[in-house]
Amino acid sequence: MAAQIYSKKEVKVKVSPNLADYQETHASFNWQEASKDVEWFPNGGLNAAYNAVDRHIKTARKDKIALIWEGTNGEKKQFTFHDLYKLSNKFANLIKGKGAEKGDRVFIFLPRIPYLYASFLAILKNGSIAGLLFSAFQEQALLDRLADSGAKILITNTELSKRLENIRKDLPELKEILTVDTAEFEAELGKQSEEFTAIATDPADFAFMLYTSGTTGKPKGVVHQHYAIVAQHATARYVLDIHDEDIYWCTADPGWVTGIAYTILGNWSNGATSVIHEGRFDPDKWFQILADYKVNVWYTAPTAIRMLMGAGDDLPKKYDLSPLRHILSVGEPLNPEAIHWSIKVLGLPFHDTWWQTETGCISIANYPAMDIKIGSMGKPFPGIGAAIVDDLGKTIEDGKEGNIALKPGWPSMMKAIWQRQEKYDSYFVNGWYLSGDHGYRDTDGYFWFIGRSDDVIKTSGERIGPFEVESALIAHPAVIEAGVIGKPNELRGSIIKAFVVLEKDSLQKVKDPQEAQKLKDELSQFVKKHLAGHAYPREIEFIDKLPKTRSGKIMRRILKARELGQPIGDTSTLEEY
Ligand code: WT7
Repeated sequence: MAAQIYSKKEVKVKVSPNLADYQETHASFNWQEASKDVEWFPNGGLNAAYNAVDRHIKTARKDKIALIWEGTNGEKKQFTFHDLYKLSNKFANLIKGKGAEKGDRVFIFLPRIPYLYASFLAILKNGSIAGLLFSAFQEQALLDRLADSGAKILITNTELSKRLENIRKDLPELKEILTVDTAEFEAELGKQSEEFTAIATDPADFAFMLYTSGTTGKPKGVVHQHYAIVAQHATARYVLDIHDEDIYWCTADPGWVTGIAYTILGNWSNGATSVIHEGRFDPDKWFQILADYKVNVWYTAPTAIRMLMGAGDDLPKKYDLSPLRHILSVGEPLNPEAIHWSIKVLGLPFHDTWWQTETGCISIANYPAMDIKIGSMGKPFPGIGAAIVDDLGKTIEDGKEGNIALKPGWPSMMKAIWQRQEKYDSYFVNGWYLSGDHGYRDTDGYFWFIGRSDDVIKTSGERIGPFEVESALIAHPAVIEAGVIGKPNELRGSIIKAFVVLEKDSLQKVKDPQEAQKLKDELSQFVKKHLAGHAYPREIEFIDKLPKTRSGKIMRRILKARELGQPIGDTSTLEEY
């Protein structure tokens, strides 16, 4: 079936796009040229945070609003680039005084408050490595990440710090916990100098790390280098199409890579006035923010879009959304209905973008000046080579399904998996970086997403490893074993479904349906409480036995096929079934 095309020819251009012609830019683009759009130190050093904020202090952007912040309870604050510069310098002096050195891991565990952004910048300016922890994380998720990274300092608040009480003893390398909402902290921060000279880090020095999930094992630390700023700058310019006069809102949390690359680095490097909303998703509030702050460029995610659609078409009519010029989506497949809806309700199509924690910047995208094939992820970013390859890394002809692969060499390709060289190496096959996603390319060069090639779950756009959830379930005394899959869901893309094998006594108990429901609720709560608020199974099914390979690996593929009523496929490696 031919794809529906949203042609850009008929669109009245409000502002000429930064990327006027995809083919032309694709042909002429090179990273060396793009590197000149950021500022290098005379000795060849490059610091990402210096580029996001400090360099603007010498220009007319100094007193421009960098951050428009709205808190959970409606509090409002604004920070100019100069304000951010001074605040992050104070933070840098403070953590330096606490012993943070170059290469030390300094982690942030905070809601989306201004101190999160200032401390992130500070850590990078100090040459330390920033680690981000999503505020929904609980004990187990925190322990895994802080222990593996050997974090030295943690920046958090009083409420969230309580989640560390039981695990602190297991974190010998963690020397300092700073709680930013205390009077002592305020007093200490207040004493710091507003001047700090950003370290002239080497472009290849580590800047930040994020833990992300694969199929097996604990989450792994994806590490990015300072040089990544070159790619984040270029993509914010050409894909987000940020112009100096824009008000820009990216709804992502910095606990995920989108919130780092495009609510801190790429956006500010381009000098964009950026909106941050601390509170949770709420349709009314979101439309209100778009209207109140006259947002021009909006970057969000499919689950949020579907929830906005679900709120009805009358709601957006209450707001003046006419300042919107360019809208984008990332994180999971963007359904055609979402684009049709946005055209109808907002007068604009959502532009899908594809990338990953590991790629560090938008890698495949739809551009303002390029026709959209509705349902496609678009074309590779100029400067990034993309292809569909087989499992041996051989390119596959157009139209055929295979692995979505990128040619290494773009500046924000992950620099390491923290202390796991083998894991890092396993991403590369025959000179290609393999994404773990399946898709195809059509004869016009557009890429189409099919699905993951592994068991990674995307729920509401967030990436969850089944192993983490299984491990959390097993920690409950009633559970012997668990197998976890993503079950397709219209609103959230997928929900987490757990198949659980119970110990004897519980098995007896759950013969009573009421008891069964009680235990399911208890297990969901248990995961929520110990692992993370967003990574719990919304559906649980008790089963006698999990399908396993002869070597004892849970075959989630079979659980999934059974759940969806699909053929089970090759079971030759199955234990007995
Ligand atoms: C995985 C990466 C970096 C942005 C946030 C996600 C899925 C991402 C799309 C898209 C279909 C998408 C892929 C990818 N994904 N964008 N436009 N269409 N799927 O980063 O948490 O590392 O997840 O998200 O499966 O591998 P992440």
